[in-house]
Parts: sequence; C-alpha cells; structure tokens
Amino acid sequence: ADARRPLMAGNWKMNLNHFEANLLVQKLAAGLTEQQLTDVEVAVLPPFTDLRTVQTAVDGDKLQIEYGAQDISQHKSGAYTGEIAGSMLEKLGCTYVLAGHSERREYHNEDDAIVNAKVKAAFASNLTPILCVGEGLSVREANGHCAHCASQLDAGLAGLKPEQVKQIVVAYEPVWAIGTGKTATPEDAQEVCGELRARITEKYGDEVGNAVRILYGGSVKAANIAAIMAKPDVDGALIGGASLDAEEFASIVRFRE
Ligand code: G3P
Repeated sequence: ADARRPLMAGNWKMNLNHFEANLLVQKLAAGLTEQQLTDVEVAVLPPFTDLRTVQTAVDGDKLQIEYGAQDISQHKSGAYTGEIAGSMLEKLGCTYVLAGHSERREYHNEDDAIVNAKVKAAFASNLTPILCVGEGLSVREANGHCAHCASQLDAGLAGLKPEQVKQIVVAYEPVWAIGTGKTATPEDAQEVCGELRARITEKYGDEVGNAVRILYGGSVKAANIAAIMAKPDVDGALIGGASLDAEEFASIVRFRE
C-alpha cells in the first residue's frame, strides 16, 4: 500500500450550509501541516450548494485540499430538472465525484447501469470517480459479500479503458456499517478490498491493480482508522459523520502519528 498515496475523503452527505462549509474547510486546513497534507491526500465532498464556497476557500487561501461532489448526472445537459452535469462540476474545480454511493442506490434506485453511466460521465468531464460498492447485512450473513462487491465493481467499470481504471478510486462501504457505529473489522475491510484489487489485477494487469486506490468506508473515526490503514489493500477511507468535525477528521488524516 506504501506506493499509493492515502486518500481521506469526507462525504458530508446532506449536511452544512455554505457558511458552515467555509468554516469547516478553514478549520480542517488549519489543523493540518503542509507535510501532513502532502503525505495524505484530503478531500471533501460537500453538497452541491456548498461547492462554490469550498472552491473560493481553497483557491483564495491556497489550501491543499481537494473537493468534489456526491453525485453527477449521467446526462450532459438539457431538460433534466434537478440534475447537475459533470461539466458544471469541472468548472467549479472539482477533482472527485462519488458514483453509486449506497444511499443513491437505495433511495434513488440507481442500478449498476446508471452507476456505470455516471462513472463514464465523470471521466468525460475530467473528474475522478469514486466508485462505491458494498453489501447489505443479509448478503453479508449469507457470506455473499465478496461476490456481491465484485459484481458491482465489474458493472461499474464496464467499458472503461485500463488507463481510466488505473485512475479510479474504489470505495468499499458495507451498508451495515454506514452510520451505525458498527465498523467492519480491519480483517473484514481487507478481505473485500483485497478481493477487489485481485479482480482488477486479473482483468487489467499488475500495473493497474497496483495503482488503483481502494478506500474503506463505514463508521470510520480517529479511534479505528490506524488499524484499518494497517491492512495492505486499504489505501484510505470514505468518512461520513466523522468528517463533519474538523478535529476528528484531522486526527483521521494523522492516522500514522
Ligand atoms: O460515504 C461515507 C459513508 O457512507 C460512511 O458514513 O457516517 O458511517 O462514516 P459514516
């Protein structure tokens, strides 16, 4: 995992107005040294309505923080009321965009085909997709988690070129561990992240498999991040609740200290 720069991405979900967003980004940056922000990549994924504010804060104070969106339209532009296009996110300086977060899959009926279209829309606008996969509790209890995540991965990556797969970020988020306080054990995280990497290597070769970053997400906090990061195939985390607290998020970023 050492060759891959760790990525800690804060998914704010539907939280914080633009005033609060500005405050959180400033506090987060102030709590980390240049060295810490070089060693570990830090990204925030605010609601759409905060993106312009985050861009202004990051550009204005030259903060070493990346940002992106939580969703993207699969369409380019036009009569899609309520949707946000990749080109709009690109114009706002976004680096990342989530595709297929379990909350989108569950509450907005996003199936694998839509998620794949969103991954492609991200690339079309020079954004790096963070492709989310993860199983629910019943699949986990039936021991189907690896197969389930592998099939979501395959579908999400369908039709991509190897050089695109190399750039992508994959996030393994077991649904039963999201916002529940129930973290997967480091061994659970490694099992699936290892499987996902093996699958990418098998299909796209060693170079791609070694380069792609795979994150764990689900009740990550300062107290459990070090053990999760110690696993060879975990390259970072997708952090929900804990990313809304600047100090907690900063301590997650300093997981090595
Ligand atoms: O995308 C991050 C996420 O779903 C995990 O949320 O609150 O369990 O860290 P949380």
